[in-house]
Amino acid sequence: MSIFHLKAPGKINLRLKITGQREDGYHLLDMVMVKVDLADEMVCDLTDGDIQIVSNEAVLPVDERNILWKVIDCIRKESEKSFGVTIQLTKRIPIAAGMGGGSSDAAALLLGLNDQLGLGWSHEKLISIGVRIGSDVPFFLVSGAQRVTGVGEILEPVSVSSMPLILMNPGFPLSTPDVYRWYDEWALTAPAPDAKSLPLENDLEKVVLPRIPVLEEIRRKLDRSGALGSLMSGSGPTVFGTYPSTEARDRGYNSLLKEIDPKWWIWSGTTLT
Ligand code: C5P
Repeated sequence: MSIFHLKAPGKINLRLKITGQREDGYHLLDMVMVKVDLADEMVCDLTDGDIQIVSNEAVLPVDERNILWKVIDCIRKESEKSFGVTIQLTKRIPIAAGMGGGSSDAAALLLGLNDQLGLGWSHEKLISIGVRIGSDVPFFLVSGAQRVTGVGEILEPVSVSSMPLILMNPGFPLSTPDVYRWYDEWALTAPAPDAKSLPLENDLEKVVLPRIPVLEEIRRKLDRSGALGSLMSGSGPTVFGTYPSTEARDRGYNSLLKEIDPKWWIWSGTTLT
């Protein structure tokens, strides 16, 4: 028995541009992603037994459908080692919310097991296994902000200074495949792209905001609370606002707390460098 602790941070997308589509339907992306100081935690125990996942989040399946189960399955097959893992997962990152929580948990476990089992897998091997598990997994296998292209497997470090931020969402999940399908339907009749390039941009906003008007309201509230800019992260529905200072963010947070719907989720923090 060998117990180890893992921490898995969330992310936001400062940029998400769709540049094309692969033959298998996956979208080619050009993204800038940064990690944030909100993290899930895992206490893992390497055993001779089976896979057991326990979570504080009742809606999360803890069987083969769980992304951590897929990671273990993949490592067992690839390494031809038989082992069991018991995982106590504390979710803090909202689920299916555009913050990469599941991918981050998967990346942390992949790195943790590579280490604990002494597999010695190369960075390239971990990236190629990671992207099969989830598109955002490679980003979480490395530290720091990254420009991410391909379908999520091509990484290039970028320097982004630490930013105070507030994250909000309406308290319900959004399915990533659904959002990409909405995008494909929209793209069939889309107007020509705007040549103006904004520093914060997310192509998926075009199809998500009209369908989920509460997100426009959340963005407006973030803008009015003193944010420098606001944007939906990933496939949503989490929206973030960036602030010029921690004082401005704290003032914004206090004013937002007085006016938001109690069902909404809100969090105040910073990006990690
Ligand atoms: O890899 P991940 O589990 O995040 O992807 C979920 C779904 O999102 C995919 O099955 C696909 O429908 C869509 N997707 C996509 N192009 C990407 C990433 C995800 O179309 N680059």
